[in-house]
Amino acid sequence: MLRTIKNFYALFTGKPRAAEKQRSQETMNLILNRRSCRSFIDEEIAEEDVQAILEAGRFAPSAVNLQTWSFITFTRQEWRKHFDRPIPFNGMHAMVICADIYKLKNHFSDFIETPYVNISFALFNAGLAAMNMTIAAQALGLKSIMLSETGKTGLLDFAYLKEKLGLPDGVIPLTTLVIGKAKGEKPGVPPRQPWDATVMKNTYNEKGSEMLDDWQQQMFIGFKLTHPLSNFQKQLEYYKKKMVEAEEEIKKQYRK
Ligand SMILES: Cc1cc2nc3c(=O)[nH]c(=O)nc-3n(C[C@H](O)[C@H](O)[C@H](O)COP(=O)(O)O)c2cc1C
Repeated sequence: MLRTIKNFYALFTGKPRAAEKQRSQETMNLILNRRSCRSFIDEEIAEEDVQAILEAGRFAPSAVNLQTWSFITFTRQEWRKHFDRPIPFNGMHAMVICADIYKLKNHFSDFIETPYVNISFALFNAGLAAMNMTIAAQALGLKSIMLSETGKTGLLDFAYLKEKLGLPDGVIPLTTLVIGKAKGEKPGVPPRQPWDATVMKNTYNEKGSEMLDDWQQQMFIGFKLTHPLSNFQKQLEYYKKKMVEAEEEIKKQYRK
């Protein structure tokens, strides 16, 4: 019981572990204060801002500079027309970020023999692009969220998006970056795993896995607070079903 109270308290008081001087530095401040936004307003965002966010994605680093990503963009109106429903959370723009090795097939055929390495790097590179875009949005005073499940927006709806977006083999829809202006205050800090379970000095610390009890409980409590009629366990079971389906699609990519 005491532990539950402690974790409840931690959920509301958690903040980034960085010294004040570092926290207040502009870019650090953007990174540490970014939160996923789940409620956007109806206000348009400037086309130049959208372009700059996409450019931030294009300028992300990538292994061998292969830029194994594609961004499929939608305005709010285009999304509604294409998917017959609104962008999740009333977002204003959506960008489906794909890992993409299809594009390279005529130019870097040497890589064809190593699909596991290629796809792993492509996923990593596309993740870096997505993060650059997220930080760019934050820097421009906008808010964002990456989605891979809510509203059939990413990896967990691979087959659906493959069909809807006409994705050839070798293109993996990782996540949809939803962008807009936020409604209301920024939400609290979702619990982070303990520092020592993450930051390891010199060698891998297997004890990290034993330090996650409080974090897991905070995740369960946090979910209950935001979804009073459900619970995290139920949600995980729901994810599991979709994960099994997505697993099949990903396996197919490695077999090509
Ligand atoms: C690849 C990826 C997929 C995500 N998919 C979803 C999603 O489908 N639905 C959702 O509500 N949040 C989604 N999120 C947001 C995470 O829940 C969020 O990043 C995490 O709880 C940490 O919170 P923060 O982003 O505010 O720091 C996703 C985040 C990432 C990076």
